[in-house]
Amino acid sequence: MSAEAELTIDGTTYTLPVVEGSEGERAIDITGLRSQTGLTALDPAYGNTASCTSEITYIDGDQGILRYRGIPLEEFADNPNFVEVAWLLIFGKLPNADEYKRFSVRLTNNANLDEDMKHHFMGFPRSAPPMAILSAMISTLSCFHPQLLELHTPEEFEAAAARLISKIRTLAAYTYRHSRGLPYMYPDPQLPYISNFLHMMFSQPYQRYESNAEVRRALNLILILHADHEQNCSTSTVRMVGSSKANLFASCAAGVSALWGPLHGGANVKVIEMLEEIHNGNQTADEFINLSKDKSSGVRLMGFGHRIYKNFDPRATMLREVCDDLLAKLGIDDPLLEIAKRLEDIALNDEYFVERKLYPNVDFYSGIILRAIGIPTNMFTVLFAIGRLPGWIAHWHEQNRDPGMRISRPRQIYTGNQKSSYINIEDRK
Ligand code: ACO
Repeated sequence: MSAEAELTIDGTTYTLPVVEGSEGERAIDITGLRSQTGLTALDPAYGNTASCTSEITYIDGDQGILRYRGIPLEEFADNPNFVEVAWLLIFGKLPNADEYKRFSVRLTNNANLDEDMKHHFMGFPRSAPPMAILSAMISTLSCFHPQLLELHTPEEFEAAAARLISKIRTLAAYTYRHSRGLPYMYPDPQLPYISNFLHMMFSQPYQRYESNAEVRRALNLILILHADHEQNCSTSTVRMVGSSKANLFASCAAGVSALWGPLHGGANVKVIEMLEEIHNGNQTADEFINLSKDKSSGVRLMGFGHRIYKNFDPRATMLREVCDDLLAKLGIDDPLLEIAKRLEDIALNDEYFVERKLYPNVDFYSGIILRAIGIPTNMFTVLFAIGRLPGWIAHWHEQNRDPGMRISRPRQIYTGNQKSSYINIEDRK
């Protein structure tokens, strides 16, 4: 018999079903709460609310576990392939050889942008924030591919997913080229996903950029480690927007905006700014740690803490290794890495961080790796978005396939004025 929860309000006891996930997490199903009791549940920032059931990603934040469709993240470390992981997340299983080939061909064939989209890039100031451009340009794709606004068949959905995953690379690279006043480099159909992105970022018309195998491996892994993280802020945004039946492009553009924030994906930029502050001698690591413990300062140790992980973020553990490895192989001695390790060491031994279970998160080391690859700091969150896109698409798809899907519409507890009357302007104080 399945479990039930009892809730007593004003002397009346109500019974609510308890649902259990495949890994044993349990939740009280409150879908009938308001109709049964007349009450709603108040949970600002949704710390206790499961907004949906999902088969895509499993996290156990206390144990530091993260699995995509059941596969532990660590299993992707030896043979990283972002395109396979994208397929896995979106379609629920690793692609077989035919599926992989078909999807790869679709990615290659869709890498180019409509020439008219270049005019849109040219309309942005060179100093425009890359995340603003990315969000706008993903929305703009809706104008260039109107046939993909309504997806009726699995074939149409796969075509739209491939188009978006392929084009986001080109959009990201063109955003960078525009900010530097560099000519846009067309995608090269001979190159696979990661190499093609690096080519569009760094080649010149007169000099081809030849990417290093270590760089490709690190970038592949970075994208995989960012590919999904269940109901985080940007993914919940994509689901929220998609719940109104907004199209895939519009929903993912909203995800980019949510990711931009410094408490979410934007933290990878803030981490580097923090490390640079310390490197430039404006503050010592100890002073920064002390400041981040003082609430009145408004300062936080960026790249530390997580809503879900109350133990090591497995992505941070893997990234720290990749970071050490890549810098050693490229012969780079980045002083920011030493500062990051020092901050981590101080924080992990400081009562404030230990008590609150604050550990390095995915953003703590990723920026140092991206710097080593030659990605400028203001593009870091764009790279996060490229990685997170398959997760957004997977969640949008899962939600859209659910026959019980309804528009997301939370309630509120109103705490404003009680009924009052309109006052003519001459009578107002
Ligand atoms: N530095 C200092 N103190 C912190 C930090 C931090 N980085 N993170 C949390 N705390 C403290 C809070 O002040 C609070 O203390 P209190 O209990 O004495 O009031 C306690 O730890 C709990 O923090 P909350 O803000 O309630 O935690 P929440 O789950 O709401 O926030 C978040 C999580 C946003 C990630 C937070 O830890 C943070 O701001 N970290 C820095 C930004 C960052 O790295 N973001 C990236 C997250 S990963 C991602 O989105 C990809």
